[in-house]
Amino acid sequence: MIAAQANQCLNYYRGEKRVFHQDAPKWLIEHSEISSQKILDNISPSDALPGAIIAARTRQEPNYYFHWIRDAALVMESIVGRRSLTSDPAEIKVIDKKISEYVEFSKRVQSLPTPAGLGEPKVNVDGTVFAEPWGRPQNDSPALRAVSLLKISKIFKKKNLLNSMIKTDLDYVADQWRKPSFDLWEEVEGYHFYTLMVQRKALTDGAEWAKSIGDTASEKKYREQKYEIEKTLLQDFWNKDGDYIPTTSFRTGGMGSKHSNLDIAVVLALLHGSTGDGVFKYTDPKFLKTLESIEARFKNLYAINNRNDLHGVAIGRYPEDVFAGHDFSGGNPWVLATLAMAEAYYHVARELKSERNSNWQNYMAKGDTFVHRVERHANPDGSLSEQMHRDSGFMTSVSDLTWSHSAVLTATKARGQLQSR
Ligand code: NOJ
Ligand code: NOJ
Repeated sequence: MIAAQANQCLNYYRGEKRVFHQDAPKWLIEHSEISSQKILDNISPSDALPGAIIAARTRQEPNYYFHWIRDAALVMESIVGRRSLTSDPAEIKVIDKKISEYVEFSKRVQSLPTPAGLGEPKVNVDGTVFAEPWGRPQNDSPALRAVSLLKISKIFKKKNLLNSMIKTDLDYVADQWRKPSFDLWEEVEGYHFYTLMVQRKALTDGAEWAKSIGDTASEKKYREQKYEIEKTLLQDFWNKDGDYIPTTSFRTGGMGSKHSNLDIAVVLALLHGSTGDGVFKYTDPKFLKTLESIEARFKNLYAINNRNDLHGVAIGRYPEDVFAGHDFSGGNPWVLATLAMAEAYYHVARELKSERNSNWQNYMAKGDTFVHRVERHANPDGSLSEQMHRDSGFMTSVSDLTWSHSAVLTATKARGQLQSR
């Protein structure tokens, strides 16, 4: 496969263009079949405890053979979404089994004596504590786990088990959100738009859930804290001289130099933290400006973005990034970041369409350009790594990052919503 791939690329550079696929929705739908399979393969691999979700199969430089709480929760959400779209009963059966295993594994993780308690970012796949130095706590993790469990509770029978797990995470979020924590990239300690947005979502959905089970004390507590988070988000995350939402409002520690404060994390924050209640809409001018700023900045950053024959802009995590997976030789565009731009524009289009604004199709088309970019660099066998090399476009860093495949599923779902009336 590697030889075939190299050949294809050589042909490409010789000018014999690789058959450039098709329209974006077609590619997404086709790729979803592969992505779903890849995701299911990475849940409960044979040498792990059932329910462990590996971030990727790569075990060296870097070792991604761990269950990251964040990745696992996002993967679960994407697979629950896929469950509602697929008509294959065999696939649904496998998905249900993996969901149930994830719940059991997460139950175990919640009670582990980890260094950062419920804010622990990752555990070993045999369900034991990972105790080496790491950026911790990462307080987006329990919030995302709660959101995934809340989704699962709509389709899963073991209500008592789920309810106690959900409450454990939500109480932690409500009690801890005022403390600084490491960001989703595991580098910067402080207060982050992404973390606060997903904490707000967990408490918003959690208050509804508490109400539904008659737990009025928790409902009140979650609602109060959600409003407090909202105030912080509105006050601290707009620089009137800037033209984008800053990713971190106040830094307390950690590594790296991120002087621009421009980060795809802000886009992921809406994708993972939107509550559909009108607060932080995709069509909010601040958010639209953020999308534009991100595209403009990354366009000039990577060589592969300056070839006229390629569509769409490849997007990285943040401009100052140097993490190349195996080393720190310079940041690259990421599959999940580029697809996040597509998905966000699909949501912009969805909001405009519901307001009967005829501009929506332009935003949908804009989203498609980012899908074309990923399509161009995807391996011919459908595998998707974490990153795309900034100069060659080849897939690089860990192969088949589970989260990359989840990004295909969620972008497909968002694109599909535009198709229906
Ligand atoms: C591993 C983290 O997962 C990654 O996000 C980070 O950039 C590097 N460590 C550098 O700290
Ligand atoms: C590095 C990323 O920065 C982080 O967000 C992710 O959780 C881990 N890799 C595992 O995929």
